[in-house]
Amino acid sequence: MTEQSKRIAVTGGAGYIGSHTTVELLEAGFEVLIIDSFANAEDDVPDRVAAIVGRGAEVERLDITDGPALGRALAAFKPDAVIHFAGLKAVGEAVAEPLDYYRVNVGGSVTLFREMAETGCNRLVFSSSATVYGDPEQVPIPEGHPLRPTNPYGQSKRMVEQIVEDWGRANPALAAVNLRYFNPAGAHPSARIGEAPQGVPNNLMPYLTQVAVGWREKLSVFGDDYDTPDGTGVRDYIHVVDLAEAHLAALALTAAGPGVHAINVGTGQGYSVLDMVRAFETASGQQIPYVITDRRPGDIATSLADPSLAEQVLKWRARRGLDEMCQDAWAWQRGRNR
Ligand code: UFG
Repeated sequence: MTEQSKRIAVTGGAGYIGSHTTVELLEAGFEVLIIDSFANAEDDVPDRVAAIVGRGAEVERLDITDGPALGRALAAFKPDAVIHFAGLKAVGEAVAEPLDYYRVNVGGSVTLFREMAETGCNRLVFSSSATVYGDPEQVPIPEGHPLRPTNPYGQSKRMVEQIVEDWGRANPALAAVNLRYFNPAGAHPSARIGEAPQGVPNNLMPYLTQVAVGWREKLSVFGDDYDTPDGTGVRDYIHVVDLAEAHLAALALTAAGPGVHAINVGTGQGYSVLDMVRAFETASGQQIPYVITDRRPGDIATSLADPSLAEQVLKWRARRGLDEMCQDAWAWQRGRNR
């Protein structure tokens, strides 16, 4: 690698997946610029990242919808590639505030891509989501499955993927990977960084950890009458460090030549909500009280990745299992409780 090819800008680099990816980048010898508004990240995340690795990233506190500030930051840092995580990510909020979601997720992405073009940066890894598939007509889901997101959050991800494809048609030098994440879980094994949702967690894993540690009384299991082995929703949970490693593999793919790719990042292995409760009880040694409630509107029975394209093209596969996800999530949560 040349000096230049080691410079990576990470939007949303202080967030849950962004911070874990920044750790992996720094450990692999990259120079990293975190670009983050800190709207949904704690101020000291870059310091905690530096404590894990023994050296830190540069940090620019700015919002990706602020084109001039973003342009200045990119012009100064001169990234060889950008990993783009920054965005809003709560499905319920997206349904209530679609214009905000399109402004930040779509508008912010277009602003970023324009500023990348301005500085001559042609390598991109974009944080997309399995939510672009909507209610799947087959599982495991291959990348060729139709894209039919069912809410504005998912639509915003699909739109950005489309924008990246169109940009690639107009700019044959563009090398981009849209990574479609399944359900990230767990935390860094150092327990210094992890998921830190504001308010009541929307997602299962942070909710489970907060019940286990006593912050919340009980878990609501959203429906037990799905067409799954135990009736509760089945998902493809992936350890956040495996997910972070997939970004380094995607970066390597963008260094290999131009082209726009869409690749699932999951394990291909599914667990139900009750599987997760049991695994978390084992990892934490705590009992997790739960009640079965109505289905959550918009939820699907089963979401599972077909991970074979990632194995072929990225030469990457998830290596960490459910027990590790639960143990690491628990260690992180316990550390925050002290
Ligand atoms: N669940 C509960 N109780 C909770 C939270 C979740 O029973 O308190 C269940 C859900 O019904 C689902 C499973 O746990 O069966 C996983 O739910 P999550 O909210 O953790 O994850 P989702 O699969 O619903 O959401 C994920 C991403 C979203 C994305 C969505 C689209 O977190 O960003 O996939 O498929 F939009």
